[in-house]
Amino acid sequence: MTHTEDVKNILGLQLPTDPRWVDLASLDLEAILTDHAYCEQKAALTCISYIQRYSHLEKLVADLAPIVTEEWGHFRLVLNELKKRNLQLGKQRRDEYANQLIKFQKNGGREEDRLLDQLLTMAMIEARSCERFKRLSEGLNDEYMRNFYRRFMESEAGHYTLFIELAETYIDKEKVRKRWKEWLDYEVEVMKELEVRGDRIH
Ligand SMILES: [Fe+2]
Ligand SMILES: [Fe+2]
Repeated sequence: MTHTEDVKNILGLQLPTDPRWVDLASLDLEAILTDHAYCEQKAALTCISYIQRYSHLEKLVADLAPIVTEEWGHFRLVLNELKKRNLQLGKQRRDEYANQLIKFQKNGGREEDRLLDQLLTMAMIEARSCERFKRLSEGLNDEYMRNFYRRFMESEAGHYTLFIELAETYIDKEKVRKRWKEWLDYEVEVMKELEVRGDRIH
């Protein structure tokens, strides 16, 4: 699958990012890079926690192990960018977007359902990151930063599909598709709510 097709698929996302976000982004690179750095860090941490929780799922462990390295590499790239520009890694902010997504996860019940929701949470975060990076790669004034975000966009598109494929490895495809649709509908509501409250998400 080409990256372009990946991105098209991602736009199963129901709501585009507010275009004003790019203007905001170009105004405060330090805040954007700080948020981005923590996003990468959390992605690595979440993959580690899934490996710990699902150590009996051989393919999941094998597929997520290299993603940990990749996400940590992303974190270091962002750190490097901050340093080059004499900017500081700021404090980690409350991640309201991720918190809202986690609320939608099924707790209790069958392990299969919990696994599905955990994989789809990551797929959603990756898809939304990819969409935001796409917007940054198209909308920022600085050509270097546009290319910088284009590379992240491609990588997160690959992660998005990997989480969906992992779900389909362990769970009936029809069930995955049906639940993904519910996640997409829920995410639209989260985005609207955060927009209303003026929360910035990464
Ligand atoms: Fe990443
Ligand atoms: Fe990722």
